[in-house]
Amino acid sequence: MIILGINAYHGDASAALVRDGQLVAAVEEERFNRFKHCAGFPAESVRYCLEAAGVSLEDVSHVGVSRDPSAHLHKKVLYAATRAAKNLAGVEGSGARAKAGGGRGIFTAISERLANTAKVRDLKDDLARRLGLPKSRFRAQFHNVEHHRAHLASSFYVSPFGRAALLSIDGFGDFISTMWGVGEGGDIEVLGQVEYPHSTGILYTATTQFLGFPHYGDEGKVMGLAPYGRPRFMEEFRRIIQTDEGGRFRLNLDFFRHHAEGVEMSWDEGSPTVGRIFSDKFERTFGPPREKGAPLTDRERDIAASLQSRLEEVAFHVLNHLHEQTGLTDLGLSGGVAYNSVMNGKILLNTPFRRVFVQPAAGDSGTAVGVCYQIYNGLLKQPRSFHMEGAYTGPEFTDEEMRAELEASGLQYETYSDREVTRRAAEDIAGGAVMGWFQGRMEFGPRALGNRSIVVDPRRADMKDILNDRIKKREPFRPFAPSILEERVGDYFEQTHPAPTMLMVYQVREEKRAEVPAVTHVDGSGRLQTVSREVNPRYHQLISDFCELTGVPVVLNTSFNENEPIVCTPRHAIDCFLKTRMDVLYLGNYAVRRS
Ligand SMILES: [Fe+2]
Repeated sequence: MIILGINAYHGDASAALVRDGQLVAAVEEERFNRFKHCAGFPAESVRYCLEAAGVSLEDVSHVGVSRDPSAHLHKKVLYAATRAAKNLAGVEGSGARAKAGGGRGIFTAISERLANTAKVRDLKDDLARRLGLPKSRFRAQFHNVEHHRAHLASSFYVSPFGRAALLSIDGFGDFISTMWGVGEGGDIEVLGQVEYPHSTGILYTATTQFLGFPHYGDEGKVMGLAPYGRPRFMEEFRRIIQTDEGGRFRLNLDFFRHHAEGVEMSWDEGSPTVGRIFSDKFERTFGPPREKGAPLTDRERDIAASLQSRLEEVAFHVLNHLHEQTGLTDLGLSGGVAYNSVMNGKILLNTPFRRVFVQPAAGDSGTAVGVCYQIYNGLLKQPRSFHMEGAYTGPEFTDEEMRAELEASGLQYETYSDREVTRRAAEDIAGGAVMGWFQGRMEFGPRALGNRSIVVDPRRADMKDILNDRIKKREPFRPFAPSILEERVGDYFEQTHPAPTMLMVYQVREEKRAEVPAVTHVDGSGRLQTVSREVNPRYHQLISDFCELTGVPVVLNTSFNENEPIVCTPRHAIDCFLKTRMDVLYLGNYAVRRS
């Protein structure tokens, strides 16, 4: 039985394919069309998933999309009715531009919802048109899966847990920002939720905008900035977001515009854009917003620190309630806010939860996976048989394909055996080289996990500047991340719970910080990836070989890209190698050195 899951018409458009319960492929559209976080319809992703499974669209039994416009309709209508006059006045003049809520997005008015409803209804049309198959030839049943149910499914059915507490913590989707419940066997029971317009994701995005980072997905920059500040605005942030009984929370709406005035959002085919969410009261409280590119001062650092700290308080409030409700100590986590790896890394320290599975694509792209399993396990009651241990579900290329690209580029290359290649690569990085490492299947979700990575020596304190200068051009305050052999985590970090998809930040042991300065953040933390031999044998071997040379079981791993989506194909990798100042590129067993 073949199931196709789709996240369409808003940020991080993606597709996933499940055959008889096994995840065959999952991929984000941005990797193909090269627009970061791209919205729209993920036609290339669908095409790739079908190709990876060796099937055609006619072979698919079920197609699902991760939104259900009919969900919570009474609440939407009630909310819209109370705001109708204002909202409609604000929207009527906005023309035909496609605007829609969802994911980290915001519903702003009835007309947007109607437009979006129509789009979801048109999923079949789009699929037929974009994939070139007449609708009459579809055999598939079509499903709408509510946004947060898709998130919850993505954190449970592919987790190692038979029974677990589940939390989706997000911006918005289908009028809900946060949903929690319990998963057991083939069922997920929803136990609570927080509705529009209250959202931790919106709080984080609004503050991120205020701090002068306007792009969709910039929230991670603020998380990286936070450790430089002091949380001296806690009182203000406790006024801005308040916790309630029953694990709930609410925004003080005086600080926001989204609920009253609406926020301009564009989900056209390119990268999403979001209008200003914070209100004038935010400015009256903190002073004028920082302009993009203006120097960062202590005020911005302290606001970032306070925001991060308050987010953690609110998240632990929800999680502690969820534990009380369920008595469980295993947790499945998803939603855009679950990309906050600093928060995730503190869960075990601040709640009774003992094991955490974070969906590798915790944001909206991962709902494509959730949709597949909500249909397969939840709806069709098929037994669970798949554990998503890594995130290596994207395109891969044969030796011949990689060699052909090298030949076409006219580059000199060397060829190594399987055993030699990791040794040579380890020698390169131990010698100070900046290395592109392109191997196997591309990762799903935001993190490069050793298959589309730039890898360097973490012992060199100057590596951060070298990477920024030569390739990444990131803000200097942002940290770089370590990959560590799973079996050595306890030697370097204060916590040892696995973090295979780089979604946990732990403290580096005090005595080790000087040994790996390039991956130790200003507060002594590191956003680690624990690498196991079973899940990624070649990357594990590379780090083992590096350890044999240097005594250090850690490398610095950053995504293989230069301010663009992570590279997907050998062509992308070669182009990135040529236009940056990388020293060496490994494509499978081939190595190209800059002469
Ligand atoms: Fe979402």
